Amino acid sequence: MSSSRTQVGIVGGGPAGLMLSHLLHLKGIDSVVLECRTREEVEGTIRAGVLEQNTVDLMVETGLGDRLKREGLEHHGIELRFGGRGHRIAFDELTDGRAVTVYPQHEVLKDLIARRLADGGDIRFGVSGAQVHDHESDRPSITFVDSDGTEQKLECALVAGCDGSRTETRKLIPEPSIRTDHFRQYPFAWFGILAEAPPSSEELIYANHERGFALISTRTPQVQRHYLQVDPNDSVDNWSDDRIWDELHMRVDGEGAEIKDGKIFQKSILQFRSFVCEPMQHGNLFLAGDAAHTVPPTGAKGMNLAIADVYALSNAMDKFFTSSDRKMLDRYTETVLPRVWRTQHFSWWMSSMLHRLPDDTGFGHRRQLAELDMVTRSIAGRTLIAENYVGTPLA
Ligand code: PHB
Repeated sequence: MSSSRTQVGIVGGGPAGLMLSHLLHLKGIDSVVLECRTREEVEGTIRAGVLEQNTVDLMVETGLGDRLKREGLEHHGIELRFGGRGHRIAFDELTDGRAVTVYPQHEVLKDLIARRLADGGDIRFGVSGAQVHDHESDRPSITFVDSDGTEQKLECALVAGCDGSRTETRKLIPEPSIRTDHFRQYPFAWFGILAEAPPSSEELIYANHERGFALISTRTPQVQRHYLQVDPNDSVDNWSDDRIWDELHMRVDGEGAEIKDGKIFQKSILQFRSFVCEPMQHGNLFLAGDAAHTVPPTGAKGMNLAIADVYALSNAMDKFFTSSDRKMLDRYTETVLPRVWRTQHFSWWMSSMLHRLPDDTGFGHRRQLAELDMVTRSIAGRTLIAENYVGTPLA
């Protein structure tokens, strides 16, 4: 077994792991990222695509903003659509000029990987069997098999568990003696498509309709991303292109909106869940991103929350390495958890306000329409959505 050493061993090369490695590098701290997928898989996986103002600012400030500024689409509002009419939430007016940027997660990952490699960063793709040892001591290590089949041992001072919702690192926090998992399943899922078509709308449309929720999003002027609420047990094979477009038209078209059809080239079903594990630390193991929490996609928060975690974690790790002071490290959970739960609430709230509930007798839908009416007619209500959608400043 060959052995190497670094300051921070990072399990997982998604947004949390790669951004953590990048932020640590800027503070002069070494890390190694272990990722089980190949670089091509990481860079090719289609995920959500909305960056909060905080995420954009952090990328620009840390030298990751070139392509983002060129290719990202800045959005200054969204439309909530119900009762056949659109109601704009104007971020610029309601949040002092803050905005979101549509820039897909895999593009963020491409930028992060390119930058880490240009900076001499150590990312091991295609590793298997990563196992963390002795994370309760001050000499943790990670064993794994690299892409050549060689057994490796990585010794480090701190370990970050950034290995996504199918995490192995979370399991190292004993449950239930130390760890509590908070979990909520939803009786719906999203059917997502990518289509070659012109944009249907200048801004994202979140539509509440009796037939179910629909979301009109975008990727580029030529490629659009749309979603339809479906049953969690539904299958992609049940949906012909015509059926998808018919359903999108029925759920969204109306006053001021008309969906533009095109050629669908990608279809997938996304499951919905809310999840938080507490605490997010055990000894010298720190969880970040989906390894610690999952949000339903309605608030467009998943990647942004992962970035907020590692922003706080990188500052705490910096304090530890520069002044041997672990107070910030040991307060990591307390520092990030309020944002995690606010984001859980926002994502749950947007989801519950906009989706059709399967056994609704009609009361639920009327109640949702009243809630949407109440929120959109009030400046306070619109501000609440806008502030949370663009994201509250990083702590
Ligand atoms: C997306 O474009 O993929 C997207 C946009 C907004 C959401 C979720 C996903 O709330």
